[in-house]
Formats: sequence, structure tokens, C-alpha cells
Amino acid sequence: MVRLGLDSPQKGPFFMKRLLSLALAAAAAAAGTAAADAPLVSRLTKYVDELPIPPVIDVATTPGKKAVLDLHMTAQTTKLHRELPETQVWGYQGSSPGPTISVERGQELEVRWTNDLPKTHIYARPEGADETGPDVRAVTHLHGAAVAEPDPTDRHLDSDGWPDNWLVAGETQRAIYPNDQAARLLWYHDHAMGVTGRNVAAGMIGAYEIHDPFERSLNLPSGPYEIPLIFQSKLLKDDGTWGYTADIGKEFYGNAVAVNGKLFPVLTVEPRKYRFRVLNASNARTYGLRFFDAADAAVPGPAFHQIGSDAGFLAAPVLLNDPANARAPRLVLASAERADIVVDFAAFAGRTLVLSNNGRDVSDDERPIPELMQVRVLPAVSAPDTSTLPAKLQGIVRLKPEDAAQTRTISFDQMDMGGKTMLALNGKMWMDPIEERPVLGTTEVWQLANTLMNAHPFHIHLVEFQVLDRRLFDVQAYLETGKITYMADSVPPAPGEMGWKDVVQVYPQMVTRIIMRFAPFPGYYVYHCHILEHEDMDMMRPFQVVDSAASR
Ligand code: C2O
Ligand code: CU
Ligand code: CU
Repeated sequence: MVRLGLDSPQKGPFFMKRLLSLALAAAAAAAGTAAADAPLVSRLTKYVDELPIPPVIDVATTPGKKAVLDLHMTAQTTKLHRELPETQVWGYQGSSPGPTISVERGQELEVRWTNDLPKTHIYARPEGADETGPDVRAVTHLHGAAVAEPDPTDRHLDSDGWPDNWLVAGETQRAIYPNDQAARLLWYHDHAMGVTGRNVAAGMIGAYEIHDPFERSLNLPSGPYEIPLIFQSKLLKDDGTWGYTADIGKEFYGNAVAVNGKLFPVLTVEPRKYRFRVLNASNARTYGLRFFDAADAAVPGPAFHQIGSDAGFLAAPVLLNDPANARAPRLVLASAERADIVVDFAAFAGRTLVLSNNGRDVSDDERPIPELMQVRVLPAVSAPDTSTLPAKLQGIVRLKPEDAAQTRTISFDQMDMGGKTMLALNGKMWMDPIEERPVLGTTEVWQLANTLMNAHPFHIHLVEFQVLDRRLFDVQAYLETGKITYMADSVPPAPGEMGWKDVVQVYPQMVTRIIMRFAPFPGYYVYHCHILEHEDMDMMRPFQVVDSAASR
């Protein structure tokens, strides 16, 4: 293959393009793959790059002590696939996904997030974006964390990452994470008003694990056998550059999926149990995941045993992708949802598996991406597998709607704003005054009434909730009268949704009911759709948890 030194005088985009097409032609010839005029993304050789594991910052090595971390938002170059040139991505500490932060339950951590990003964004501002701020602005939110946010006008001590408190280059946000939550996978990501989608697409995501003694008592696969799988949409253009949506009115699905920062990676495993911490960090895409045999797609791969959801362990493992049943439910994850799964490769020694995806929204802009990564199973284990898949996990007390102090309805609607269609919650915009003021320590039921034609993943800060049910309702009558009339029986949550959650898929034309206790802090928080282009276009609202009813 032609190799040109970096000191070649022939630099610039034309040169890069030429170098790229040479590399691709060579790759396509070697693999005997797609025609030269096929989209670039379909010409990449699959399963040649090893699955990267983001670096780990293990804060738990200083038990009992308040830890402080200085973390920087950074731009760096990387190869998302070995046949592509180096490209700029954004992340944290020189990595995207950023380092996985690992803490012990109850160990307080202060993070000082500093914006070290360049002055110009790697992606153009999309058409129709309602942005007035500087091109590059960022603020970090730790998704799923219960933190204090008493004063959203405090731009410096801002633990929850208030969307309007974005930083420009050189500024620092102090955030205090009490980590007083049972073992679970959280994640941090950018949350700056109007530009969250662009920043996240640029790579501003990272995993954050809380561990505890109960989790260790379960004897799950750990160490090298516990692996994060972080899925992120990317858009690879035919000239070899990367892009974001050109129009904020169109969700960013992209045409490729990076797993831990690589396209079509391959993971080598031993024939034994693994624990995968799965995170959908994509702007909009929903995945439906299942393994099949690489040699024959009709041959099923191993089952998934789902042991946890967004906010910790389920009551007992849930069997997904039962190999005995071709129509068994897959693991379905919408934007920001997490799943903790155990997969046993013991019966697959020496075989190669493909992780397939059948996720597909109703939107015409989303193209299916049927394969995400490959897993190669070694012929033998390096040591016997002594880990366990427990039959029971943790007790989960179901919250009762009778105990709710309030029931609120949040409607998912669209409004006409001078010829432009805007998505909204309750017909309100981000800047409109706060309407929901739950009292600290009380339980509420929220009825999420989706009048729209597609599903929206709904997320609330501070709290974890339980999904009660979903039920078809008469949307037309609701839009006219504001009254909910049900048209069918209620549907219970899927087994994997019976634990604690912080994101729920709100299906079209249905009311999804969730229940939660507003604790442990009073303060100012937000709820929003986690399709980031919807969030950026005002499908996000502030709310306040008040100390007592009198303080409303
Ligand atoms: Cu994943 Cu408001 O965040
Ligand atoms: Cu969040
Ligand atoms: Cu949405």
C-alpha cells in the first residue's frame, strides 16, 4: 500500500481524500467487498478493529475520603476505523468516550469540569437551530445521579449541569456527586442548552459506575469479564469527514454506530460468562440487540440475561433472546437507556458471533444498521469460570398509585411557531415559567400523554421511577378537551422495565404512567425527551422540588 509521510508537502483536504480513496480501494480489493461507488460507510471492512475499552478512573481506591477530580473537555484526533484517516472528536481527558469513572457507593466526589475545547465546533450549526450563544459552549450533566441543585443561577457550583450554565473555553464547573445510590451505571454527557445534540454527537459522553458491597456479594463476572458497551450514532460522509444533522428538525440517526468509539469492532472473549454494561449514548437511535452465528444468521447466539436497568438491579434476571425461540424479545434500548446483562459464551467455544440490531423508528430518515460488532469466542478458558448468574437479585418494592400526593399529565405535543413546527411538553418552552413543584419526599404519578406519531424516551433528573403501565387513548378528544379517554386495556411494563428507571420509552398515541418519590434534595431540575434534537428544540422543561407545600 502507498504510504506517505506526515511531512509530505501535499497536505490539505484533497490530499486526504486521495489518500483515503487509495486506502479504501486497497481494502475493498482485499476483502472483495462492495463496489467502489457504494457509500463509503458500506465499503469499510467490518470487524478488523479491536473493541476499545475506555480508560478507567478508579476513585474507589481512596475509601472514606472525599475525592476531587479535575476533568477537561478536550478535542483530540482518532481513527474511528482503521481504513479512515485521523479525525477530530471531542470528549474528556483526551478520550471519547471519556474515562469510565468508578466510585464506591457513599463516596463523595467533586469534579471540576473545565472547557478546553477549541473555539469552533467540528460540526456546522444545523438549519433551524434556535441558538444564540457562542458556537462552542458546554456543561456536564451526570445522568441518573441524585445531586443537589439549590441555585441554578450559580454558574460555578453547578452539580446537575443546568442547561443555561454552559461554559466557554477556560471556564470551570464544580460539581459535587454524593454517590449515595445503590450500584448502577450512570453516564455523563454534555447538556448545554440548544447544542446538546451537536456536542454529544461530537463525542462528549462517558460512563460512570457506582459499586457497592451488595453488588460484590452477587459474584457477577468482574474484572476483565465486565465490559462496557457504549453505542453511539455517527455520520460518515462520502468524502471521509464526519457530520451532524443538517436540519435540527431531523433527528440525528447517522449512518454508522461506534461501539466504545470504533465502527464495527471485534471483541475476543473466553467461553465463559461476561457482564456487559450496555449504554445507548446515541442522539436518537433505538437499538434491538441480539447475537447470531457469523457463519449462519439463522443460528442463534447466546441468550442475554438482563440483571439491571437504568437505575440498578432488577428483582431477578430477565431472559432475552432465548435461543429456543426465534421470536423471543430482544434487548431494546432507546437513547440514554442502560442495561446490565450477563451472557454465557461457554457453549460457543471457537465460534464467531455477530451482534445484530433490528432497531428502527417510524421516521423515514432512519436507515437500519443491521450489524454492530463481532464477538470471537476463544476455544478455551484461561481459568475456570467461578462467577455466578444469581437466580434472585434485589428486592424491589412496587410504589402504589394510591400513595401519590399528586397526579400530573405531561403531554407530548407540537406547536406551530410562525410556520415552524416545534416539539413541546405541555405546549411550553424551556423559558416558560416552572409549572411542576413536587414537595420533597412525596410520591407522584406522571401520565405521559404522547399525542405524536413516534416514540420519545422521557427522562427526569434527580429521581428514579417505576413504570406503571401504558394505555392507548383518544388523542383527538384529548387535544380538543384536555381529557384522557382510554381506548383499550392497559399494558404492563416489559419484564426488563420492572426495576428502577430514569428513562422510559413513551409510545405514540399512548399514555405511559410512571411513579416516583421526589427526593433526596429540594432544588431545580429538568425533565426532557432524550432524543437530543428534540431536547434542543424545547422538548425540555424545568421543575422545582420544594421543601413543603407552603414554600410553593
Ligand atoms: Cu441524559 Cu438531562 O440527560
Ligand atoms: Cu439526566
Ligand atoms: Cu422526542
